This record gives sequence, structure tokens and C-alpha cells, in this order.
Amino acid sequence: MERTLSIIKPDGVGRGIIGEIIKRLESSNIKIIAIKMLKMTKKQAQGFYAVHKERPFFDNVTDFMASGPVVVIVLEAENVITKYRKLMGATNYKEAEEGTIRKDFATDIEKNIVHGSDSQESASFEISYFFNSFEIV
Ligand code: CMP
Repeated sequence: MERTLSIIKPDGVGRGIIGEIIKRLESSNIKIIAIKMLKMTKKQAQGFYAVHKERPFFDNVTDFMASGPVVVIVLEAENVITKYRKLMGATNYKEAEEGTIRKDFATDIEKNIVHGSDSQESASFEISYFFNSFEIV
């Protein structure tokens, strides 16, 4: 069993597709083991995306992630990192495969509806960024 962190970003929450995303997770046999809604400060978003701090999009993406509520979810399944990344589709929605979340809903490389950890190392950092052990069931 593997775990990963999913975030429904401010555009996904604002467009009312939380339920649609959760439905896709559950129908792919991915188990939700923790979930909550929160609104990050700019500083919290910078901490979350610290690995990207030298990238040109860092300021924009952290502004966007602090612009409204997000839903953070811990997912569990076999090979869930890869499995969930397939469900999301490519970071750039223009390159995402048909039927993926980003292909169906994203409008911009930055406003790309969802986030998912890209490795076991980042999953463990990202899960502990938002959840303590009592919140994971
Ligand atoms: P995410 O998976 O949350 O990880 C970093 C985010 O930065 C990414 O999704 C995009 O929303 C955003 N981003 C903006 N521009 C780029 C880019 N050129 N390459 C990768 N990520 C980008």
C-alpha cells in the first residue's frame, strides 16, 4: 500500500467539482484516508512548494494556491502515486490524455484543478505538511 497527497486547487473548489473529483477517485478504487478544506496563506503556499522556489512560476503558483479554499486529501492504494497521476493527466492540460481530470477541466498550466505528489519522498513531506497522525484514519 502506498499513500499520496491530493489537493483540489482553488479553481476546482470554485467551479464546484469537488464531488466529481472524489467520484473519480472512489470509482478507481482509491481509498480516502484523510480529508479537509483549508485556505493557505501565501507563506504556507511557499512552504508547500519550497522545492520549486527557484522556478519562474513560483510566485504565481503560490499566489494562486493562497487565493481561495483548497481540499487536501490523503489517498491510499497500491501504486497510488502513479495511479493518481494518471487520473489527473499531465501538468500542462494541453498535453493531458482524454478522460483525465486536467483534460476535462483545466484552463491553464497554473490553474490545473488538482495537485498530486510526484514521488514517495514528496508524498511523505506533503502529507505531513497538512495532517497529523490522528487525522489519518
Ligand atoms: P503542481 O502539480 O501543483 O506542481 C507545481 C505547480 O506549478 C504545477 O502543478 C502547476 O500548477 C504550476 N506551474 C505553473 N507553470 C508551470 C510549469 N511551467 N511547469 C510545471 N508547473 C508549473
